[in-house]
Order: sequence, then C-alpha cells, then structure tokens
Amino acid sequence: MAALRWTLRVSPMLARARTSPGSLATTCLADRYLWDRFHAQPRPGSVPTFDWFFGYEEVQGLLLPLLKEGPVSCPPRVLDVGCGTSGLCTSLYTQSPYPVDVLGVDFSPVAVAHMNRLLEGSQGQIPLSPGHPASHLCFRQADAQNLGPVAPSGSFQLLLDKGTWDAVARGGLPGARRMLSECLRVLSKQGTLIQFSDEDPDVRLPFLEQMCCGQTVTMQELGPFGGITYFAYLVKCAH
Ligand SMILES: C[S@@+](CC[C@H](N)C(=O)[O-])C[C@H]1O[C@@H](n2cnc3c(N)ncnc32)[C@H](O)[C@@H]1O
Repeated sequence: MAALRWTLRVSPMLARARTSPGSLATTCLADRYLWDRFHAQPRPGSVPTFDWFFGYEEVQGLLLPLLKEGPVSCPPRVLDVGCGTSGLCTSLYTQSPYPVDVLGVDFSPVAVAHMNRLLEGSQGQIPLSPGHPASHLCFRQADAQNLGPVAPSGSFQLLLDKGTWDAVARGGLPGARRMLSECLRVLSKQGTLIQFSDEDPDVRLPFLEQMCCGQTVTMQELGPFGGITYFAYLVKCAH
C-alpha cells in the first residue's frame, strides 16, 4: 500500500523542477541525457557549483559528528551518490576539520568532468586544497543502480544522497529499489546512509522501512531553507 502511494506521488521539488522553463521540463528525471544537458547549462555569475535543496553549510552540523571518529591513518570513506555539481563533496573535502576520503559519483560525464576541473583547478583557477592534510577527494562516473565498478561491498562509512533517489524514482520503482539496494550493499558495518529529500515522511518512511529490514530508519526535519522544509532520512546499518 505504501509503495502504491509512493509511486503516485511526485516529490514537490522535482515537480517544480519539471515545470521550470528551460530547466528540467521533460518527463523522465532518470534519463542521463537530460541530466547531461542540465549540467552543461551555464551557471549564473561565477559560482562553480549548483546545489539542489540546500548546501553544505545547512547540513555540516549533521555530517561532521559522523566523521570525527575516523583515524587519520584510515579516514572514513564518504560516497555522494548522484553528486551532480553540488558543493557537498568539495566542501566536505575543503572544510572538514576531520580527515575524510570522499568519492562523488554521477552517471553524467558532464557533471563528473566539471567537478574534476574544479578539483584540479583549470583555466587559471586554484586547485582545491583539503581542510585536513589526510583528506582525499575524487569524482567518477557511475550508475547509482550499479555501483560495483566503483564501490566494493561494505566499503563506505557514510553514504550521501541529496535528491538522487528522488530523480531515479521518477524512472520507476524497480530502478529506485535497485539504487537503494546498491546503497545498502556498499555501506560498511555501522555505516550510515542519509537521503536528503523534500518528500514527506509519511511517504518515504514506510518505503524505507519496508526496504531496509533489520536496519534502523530515522528522520530529521531540516530547515525551512528558502521557506521549504526538507528531511534527512537516516538508515543505520545493523549487520
Ligand atoms: C536532483 S540532482 C541532485 C544533484 C546533487 N546531489 C545536489 O544535491 O545538487 C540528481 C542527480 O542525480 C544524478 N543521477 C540521476 N540518476 C542517476 C543514476 N542512475 N546514477 C547516478 N547518478 C544519477 C543526476 O545526474 C543529478 O546530478
């Protein structure tokens, strides 16, 4: 029943994006070529990143406590799945006072190339430098529904998904289930998956609870940012 309600509902953010002129006014937000076009659009001003929902500043208070336990010799591995051109990965890398080993993946080569240029510094820009000398950042192209080529099982302590599951879900429930299964597969023991979304808890929580049997699912309200309330859905691995 929960799944049926879920399939009929469109995340408010994505509904807005779909009807914005010149942005994502097409039908399938799971389509890679649509995202390639979106990520190729010029950004206003000289801002090098574009964030859905909100940026790093709004969630650093939630993220940093999850990272501070990691040993310098082996920093916690963080995967941002569907990183797009968000500043989440780059800000974690440049601002976290704790060592972090961050991987941003997206199926759009346009987004990945943009983030690699930003990281390495191109066209006279200065390369990004880490907030902690032991921190590391890289970007790779990968499909969230098949993370095998970039992520062995149990290899990440923190998995971030800001708006990606919402987009993949627009392509249908099977793809959304595959993506969530992959996220859970690559999560380490005691790892945490965080989905940031504007989808209501009465829709998202039953779905996650059904899919994440044996794991603890909780939710935190975020914001309002720009007048919109968002949610962080946390899945803690229990295996
Ligand atoms: C709503 S945007 C969010 C981008 C970024 N996380 C942010 O917060 O700004 C969704 C992102 O997911 C990516 N994406 C969609 N489906 C994907 C898939 N199957 N595998 C990997 N990335 C995907 C898109 O290219 C896009 O960058």
